[in-house]
Amino acid sequence: MKKKKKKTKKVISRNLGLEIGSICGRYFLKLKHLHYGYWTDGLDVDISNIHLAQDEYVKFIISHVPEGVKTILDVGCGTGELAETLLNRGYEVDCVSPCPFLEKQASELLGDRTHIFECFYEEMQTDKQYDMVMFCESFQYIDLEQALSKTNEFLSSGGYLFISDVFSKDIKARGVMSGGHKLSKFYDRIAKFPFRFIENVDITEETAPNMDLYGDVLENVIQPVTDVGVRFFESRYPIATKFLKWKYRKKIEKAHKKYLEGGRTGDDFRKYKSYQLFVYKKDAQE
Ligand SMILES: C[S@@+](CC[C@H](N)C(=O)[O-])C[C@H]1O[C@@H](n2cnc3c(N)ncnc32)[C@H](O)[C@@H]1O
Repeated sequence: MKKKKKKTKKVISRNLGLEIGSICGRYFLKLKHLHYGYWTDGLDVDISNIHLAQDEYVKFIISHVPEGVKTILDVGCGTGELAETLLNRGYEVDCVSPCPFLEKQASELLGDRTHIFECFYEEMQTDKQYDMVMFCESFQYIDLEQALSKTNEFLSSGGYLFISDVFSKDIKARGVMSGGHKLSKFYDRIAKFPFRFIENVDITEETAPNMDLYGDVLENVIQPVTDVGVRFFESRYPIATKFLKWKYRKKIEKAHKKYLEGGRTGDDFRKYKSYQLFVYKKDAQE
């Protein structure tokens, strides 16, 4: 019971993180998407180019949609921008969005061109079946077993499972860089489903620069701003600040370790993570 509560808290805080990311990204950098950028040769790794790198990522995704696909379930549709691009290309797209804030953005953008299942994928119910179930950087948030069994349920025979996401290598990262199912576990689990391997592209190199930019923002914006805030409270409310620092010392230490002590560079990403595109086909079942 206690474990479930902890898991729910983790899921909620991750979704809050995505909301904040969406608000800041949209406001400061005019970003439409929530996924990583795909840094092609010749694109300067600079924060002002993230929107271009995100557009390259969309191009990469679209170029790998298998021929013959007509209907798509976009799981974890974020702001709905990728679904819109797919709709504009003639695909029929339904979406899944468990986060009310993002769901609102997606439904304002997509209107009645789509149906949005407002729930966690793990809880989704429908009789509909799709030619392709797509996870663009959403697979990591979903329980592995459930993601695969629900997809098996919602895919028509001969349909495709399409995943583009971060996975963890079998190297223990000291809690600095979390996120992503273990690749070895993924291979182990997917082998138990009637999915036949079609394609795998490793885009770790093209996505690692995002981590350099992220680390740079943490070091040069988030940390100094946090320090200024703390100094302000210390000068105004010294006793209360001292008390809060003591009361939440473990949490503060953990957050400091996780976000502010480095370990978030492109090289760390290459070492501990791998960003993979996988396409599998659901075999006809007798
Ligand atoms: C990093 S964003 C990616 C959004 C979008 N696919 C894109 O490429 O911009 C992750 C998405 O996964 C969704 N998500 C998180 N947990 C989920 C779950 N259990 N079931 C379905 N979607 C989930 C979030 O709400 C968010 O829309």
